[in-house]
Amino acid sequence: MGNVWQDFFDYHAPRYLENSFTKDTLAEVDFLVEELNLPPGSSILDVGCGTGRHAVELARHGYRLTGIDISDGMLEQGAHAAGDAGVEVEWVQADAARYTPASTYDAAICVCEGAVSLLSMTDDPLSHDLAILRMVHAALGMAAPFVLTVPNGLQKIRHFSQDDVEFGRFDPLTLVETYTMTVEDPRGHREVHAREKGYLPSELRLLLEAAGFEVRHLWGGTAGRWGRRPIELDEIEIMAVALRA
Ligand SMILES: C[S@@+](CC[C@H](N)C(=O)[O-])C[C@H]1O[C@@H](n2cnc3c(N)ncnc32)[C@H](O)[C@@H]1O
Repeated sequence: MGNVWQDFFDYHAPRYLENSFTKDTLAEVDFLVEELNLPPGSSILDVGCGTGRHAVELARHGYRLTGIDISDGMLEQGAHAAGDAGVEVEWVQADAARYTPASTYDAAICVCEGAVSLLSMTDDPLSHDLAILRMVHAALGMAAPFVLTVPNGLQKIRHFSQDDVEFGRFDPLTLVETYTMTVEDPRGHREVHAREKGYLPSELRLLLEAAGFEVRHLWGGTAGRWGRRPIELDEIEIMAVALRA
């Protein structure tokens, strides 16, 4: 059996771009281009690239893109999108927590919960995400920028109740939420359990530092509302901008 998120995204891939949180790609890419501030032709690694909505747009801006994702279904959508846009993107099917990068990149992005924070029922939350951050660190050249967005732990704390803790929907020790999702594949229609970790801003800073990054900014990072602005307590995602130290 594959990773639960792999099963889910393989199933969900044809409908992924119907999600409202995917509708601001062009503005997000403008933000990334400005924030990464790279000369044309620079190489960018997109971790958990999904259908490649950022990778393809960044390739249209003249960058060399590699997208890693655990889901073949999502990568297939990405390959179609790159073909339609007339750009080249290197697609790599891999679990980002177990991947050894083959090249060195000038920048990396991991946005909209691209692998970091997406856990199976057995992953240790911090070890899982630290393995991905270390992989990104190993993939980057010195002082290369990295933009990461993750679920906002402050929002989860404010959203969940003591009942959610008692029913196992939210773990106050790790800020991990447990989901039940529907998947349909050749094995039939079934419900799967998966988990997503929320981060406190200071916790995210420490984990990035443990992986060898210098954190430059912690901003609000909710899809559709990216900007150089403070984190709001109830927003869905936070953004870190870090440099490979
Ligand atoms: C919410 S989507 C985000 C996709 C893309 N970054 C975007 O902004 O649209 C999460 C993606 O992470 C991928 N993913 C989940 N766990 C992963 C892992 N361990 N390694 C690589 N990709 C993973 C999923 O297959 C999915 O494509």
